[in-house]
Amino acid sequence: MSPTPIQQARSARSHPTGIAHTRARTLEALRPTLLSEIVGQPQAVDALMALTENAHHARPVPHLLLHGIPGVGKTTAAYAFARAALGPGWRDHFIEFNGSSDRGIETARVIGRIVGNGVDDVPFRIILLDEADSLTSDAQDALRRIMEQRSGWNLFILSCNEIDKIIPALQSRCLLLEFRAVDNAEIHSVLYRSATLLGIERDEKLWRWIQVNANGRPRDANNLLVTFGKYRDGTVESDSGPLPGVGVEV
Ligand SMILES: Nc1ncnc2c1ncn2[C@@H]1O[C@H](COP(=O)(O)OP(=O)(O)OP(=O)(O)O)[C@@H](O)[C@H]1O
Ligand SMILES: [Mg+2]
Repeated sequence: MSPTPIQQARSARSHPTGIAHTRARTLEALRPTLLSEIVGQPQAVDALMALTENAHHARPVPHLLLHGIPGVGKTTAAYAFARAALGPGWRDHFIEFNGSSDRGIETARVIGRIVGNGVDDVPFRIILLDEADSLTSDAQDALRRIMEQRSGWNLFILSCNEIDKIIPALQSRCLLLEFRAVDNAEIHSVLYRSATLLGIERDEKLWRWIQVNANGRPRDANNLLVTFGKYRDGTVESDSGPLPGVGVEV
């Protein structure tokens, strides 16, 4: 049987080199794959579940704009929605751009060329534009025209932190879903799931400290857990030292 992503991430941890790379893989392995595993975003998740049903029954699905603070589930939700709506072959119909590295009009041109081709075995192809608030206004304007005239088989999902940086014409062509800071009980459930998956000891004192310092962001909670948590097999992430402020030795 081939190893699960979690097993791969854990075995990678034991290699002495490439800690940053390994850490990124460990954190990536904690990303929920199902919409139902995303905590603390009931409105957005309910909407995405309803739209999944639309996709399965050939009913319309609007373009989406997922917005809110960093590390609370926007990209995770885009992937989980793609999986749920498109099924096992979702990766073949999912194209991703990052607004911060592909900021300009050329990105819109590339997208314009992609949307020219149709797809037939899935309800739509998804084009995810992560960090869309970094796109120049020219690029956003071109994107707006593509959405208007030639979106056809293509469903756009835009994700951003600062909705004010998305031009109104683009906002008004999307369903807006806001992602918010989650509460402490939800951070606790993220910690429980991640600790179980990674083989980290349950430590309520540490977890309370993480709840205070994660500021409602599950990504920060996982980062702190991977850094300060004690692994059952005795390995440690790094020379993380005592926790600031609470004197917990790790
Ligand atoms: N609501 C959530 N429920 C469960 N896990 C979450 C949630 N939000 C974030 N995470 C965890 O944090 C990681 C990062 O989340 P994600 O990439 O979805 O954040 P984001 O909102 O897209 O942030 P950014 O604005 O920086 O792009 C995920 O891989 C997952 O492990
Ligand atoms: Mg993101």
